[in-house]
Amino acid sequence: MENTNLKDLYINFFVSKGHVQIPSAPVVPENDPSVLFNTAGMQPLIPYLMGQKHPYGTRLCDYQKCIRTNDLDEIGDGTHHTFFEMLGNWSLGDYFKQEAITWSFEFLTTVLNIPVEKLAVTVFAGNDLIPKDTEAIELWKKLGIKEERIAQTVEDNFWIAGDTGPCGSDSEMFYWRSNEPVPDKFDPEDDRWVEIWNDVFMQFEKHEDGTITELPKKNVDTGMGVERTTAILEGKTDNYASSIWKPIISLIEEISDLPYEGNEKSMRIIADHIRTAVFILADNAGIKPSNTDQGYILRRLIRRAIRHAKKLNIDVNSDWDQRIANKLIDMYGDYYQEVKENKQVVLEGLSNEKVKFNRTLEKGLKEFEKIVSNLNGDLLDKDLAFKLYDTYGFPIELTVELALEKGIKVDEEGFKQKFKEHQEKSRAGSEQKFKGGLAGNSEVETKYHTATHLLNAALKVIVDKNIHQRGSNITVERMRFDFNCDHKLTDEEKQKVEDLVNEWIKEGLDVTVTEMSKEEAIASGAECMFIEKYPDIVTVYTIGDVSKELCGGPHVKNTSELGHFKIKKEEASSAGVRRIKAILE
Ligand code: SER
Repeated sequence: MENTNLKDLYINFFVSKGHVQIPSAPVVPENDPSVLFNTAGMQPLIPYLMGQKHPYGTRLCDYQKCIRTNDLDEIGDGTHHTFFEMLGNWSLGDYFKQEAITWSFEFLTTVLNIPVEKLAVTVFAGNDLIPKDTEAIELWKKLGIKEERIAQTVEDNFWIAGDTGPCGSDSEMFYWRSNEPVPDKFDPEDDRWVEIWNDVFMQFEKHEDGTITELPKKNVDTGMGVERTTAILEGKTDNYASSIWKPIISLIEEISDLPYEGNEKSMRIIADHIRTAVFILADNAGIKPSNTDQGYILRRLIRRAIRHAKKLNIDVNSDWDQRIANKLIDMYGDYYQEVKENKQVVLEGLSNEKVKFNRTLEKGLKEFEKIVSNLNGDLLDKDLAFKLYDTYGFPIELTVELALEKGIKVDEEGFKQKFKEHQEKSRAGSEQKFKGGLAGNSEVETKYHTATHLLNAALKVIVDKNIHQRGSNITVERMRFDFNCDHKLTDEEKQKVEDLVNEWIKEGLDVTVTEMSKEEAIASGAECMFIEKYPDIVTVYTIGDVSKELCGGPHVKNTSELGHFKIKKEEASSAGVRRIKAILE
């Protein structure tokens, strides 16, 4: 199949099966401090898989932007990407295995026209806690998948994001990607069979003590990677040779005046890293390159792309990055509004970081050569690696990569330790964040959600009625709230805001939730961030008569549950955006 627009085919199909298309959530999770980025399509839906009512209904589908950066070193081969899109359809207590499997089969065989002979599936084999999935086996057989094409596993057929949370057995679909004849018997270990889709039957919740309980409702969560599936359907073993990447790779060929063949690694890295950087910069969270958290990932991606551009003899001071970013914005702008809207932010963000890094890159490379020529043995120690980072802005993987090209190893562990110590020093009293696992909607976090609405309302009363939320992030230790404001808050303003929130807490205001149409919500003056992104029917949380906001929740029932509100810090977040960190004590 040539030029498959998999996203459109997928969404149209599931809409025809009664699903509502929901917009992709931002790449930077709004209220989940346990991860830097959304890593799976289901992640933004966790509260709903856990039982909360979703404003769009019980059958949903989408394409979700995901970013995974745990293994930057892998990028450069033909199959890894830091940013990717994941297609998904969900049942929130609506249909279950029968419809999920039947529709998966129908989509693969009648929309994508994959011959059934090229398909195979895995199902859950059963363990002490959950029995073998005989229902899935029977369903696949009835649809025409032969018994020898149905493999059973335990480990690979149970899906959970992290250590705790919603989970369940799953059934994975595989496609025969080879010109050799398809073997009768399916062997999931044979890598000519590639996984293209996963149907998870999410009916359990795993707790911290390892126990598993039933969720209030049985859900379906499915995931299909756009890049991988498109490449497979187009008969490519190199994802970057598919129609998705072709325009970018061709542009890099044009800019560098070099062919893809023989320069694959650098071209893939440039294409991949710049694409991810575009999506991070475009996100409304307002991330900029920095030395911490998402900002540091962004910095590393851009800097590594610059280094590889240099390797291809591209003039790194030219507008090569802007041209690639512009092309990506054209390609993705119609699918993701923020990419189009924040075009200038993206272009400037890239350009600023490029200018900054180019100032030290040349000197850093010279220093690296010096280090290498003075090296005794083949290990670059942690202090030298740290010097390259601290003085020349070389992210560790850049140093590792440069060293590898010379057959030298780097004491990465030692560097990481030193880096951590350095960060801890410069971030005294740093919050304990990113503890792993998915953030639940714990009691504390729920309180912070409600406090966030109160703070938003108080800022409007005390500072400026035109203040609106620009971002929010909640951990069990604190809340962070970004809002538009053209000045640093005065001490008096901060005190007044704090006092007003505490007054509202003392008043014991009821928090109520109502569903209404989007139009009604707007007419009622409800606060919302991006109205066009909401479904027709929305949930609105009202706190006494002080706040009314479109929101997915969860919230406390009464403000008296919140305790004492205290602003810890007020600072600039980005141009025209201020940030408040506050706690409940
Ligand atoms: N959660 C599953 C996955 O990420 C299916 O969406 O593969």
